[in-house]
Amino acid sequence: MLMSPPRPNLFREQAGPSNDVTDAFRVAMGRLAAGVVMVTCHVDEEPWGLTVSACCSVSMEPPLLLVSLGSNTISAQSIERTGVFGVSLLGQELVGVAQFGASRGQAKFVHDFVHTPEKKCVSPLVRGSLAHIDCTVQSTVSAGDHTIVIGKVNQVVVGGEGDHPLVYYARTFHRLSELTDLHAAPVAAQSVDSLLYDGSDNQALSSGDKQPPVQQRRSDLKSND
Ligand SMILES: Cc1cc2nc3c(=O)[nH]c(=O)nc-3n(C[C@H](O)[C@H](O)[C@H](O)COP(=O)(O)O)c2cc1C
Repeated sequence: MLMSPPRPNLFREQAGPSNDVTDAFRVAMGRLAAGVVMVTCHVDEEPWGLTVSACCSVSMEPPLLLVSLGSNTISAQSIERTGVFGVSLLGQELVGVAQFGASRGQAKFVHDFVHTPEKKCVSPLVRGSLAHIDCTVQSTVSAGDHTIVIGKVNQVVVGGEGDHPLVYYARTFHRLSELTDLHAAPVAAQSVDSLLYDGSDNQALSSGDKQPPVQQRRSDLKSND
C-alpha cells in the first residue's frame, strides 16, 4: 500500500474539532514572518507609539497604506480622533523600541525615541528607523476586535540603506543574519524549492521526479510587483 509521506512540521497543528480555530489561527499567523513598525500618533499632544505588524501598502496612485489596530487601544482611538498618524519601519537595532511599544496596559509615550522630522511630517518619527511614512486618515473599517485604518500618505522620510529590518516570527523578534537574494543564490533557492507545497496531500518533501523544474518553481517565489 502506498503510504503518504509525512507532512512538514508546518502542517502539524491543524484546526479541527479538538483544536479551537482561534488558537490554531494564532499559531498559523505566528508562522508568517512579518516586518515590525511603530505606529505613532499624539495622545494629549504628546508623542505615543504602538508596535504593529499588521501594516501594508494598499495603493500607489494615490499612495495609501493600512494598519490594523486593536479597537480598544489608545492609539486607535487617538488616531480616529486626530485623523493623523505615522508609521516608522523598525530595523533590528530598534528591538528595544519595539518591545516598549508592545508593552500591554502601559503608557506608550515615546519622547525618548522620536524627533520632529525636518519635512512637514505631523506624526512623530522614530529616530534611526528605516523609513517613516506620515499619513492622514482616509477611512476606517471596523473588523472584529480591530479597526483597519487606511491612511493617505503625505510625507515619506527614508533612512539609511543597508540597515537590516526587524522581523517578528513565531512570537519572537529576530534579525536577518544576512540578506540572501534567493534568485542569486542557487543553493539557498534549491533548499527552499524542496519545501514548496503544491497543495496536494501526497507531495514528497524532498525534490523528486514529479517535481517541476527548479527554474519553473523558482519563478513562483518572485513577487508580482
Ligand atoms: C511584533 C508585534 C506585532 C504586533 N502587531 C499588532 C498589530 O498589528 N495591531 C495591534 O493592534 N497590536 C499589535 N501588537 C500588540 C500591541 O503592540 C500591544 O501590545 C497591544 O495592542 C496592547 O497594547 P495596549 O495594552 O496599550 O492596548 C503587536 C505586538 C507585537 C509584539
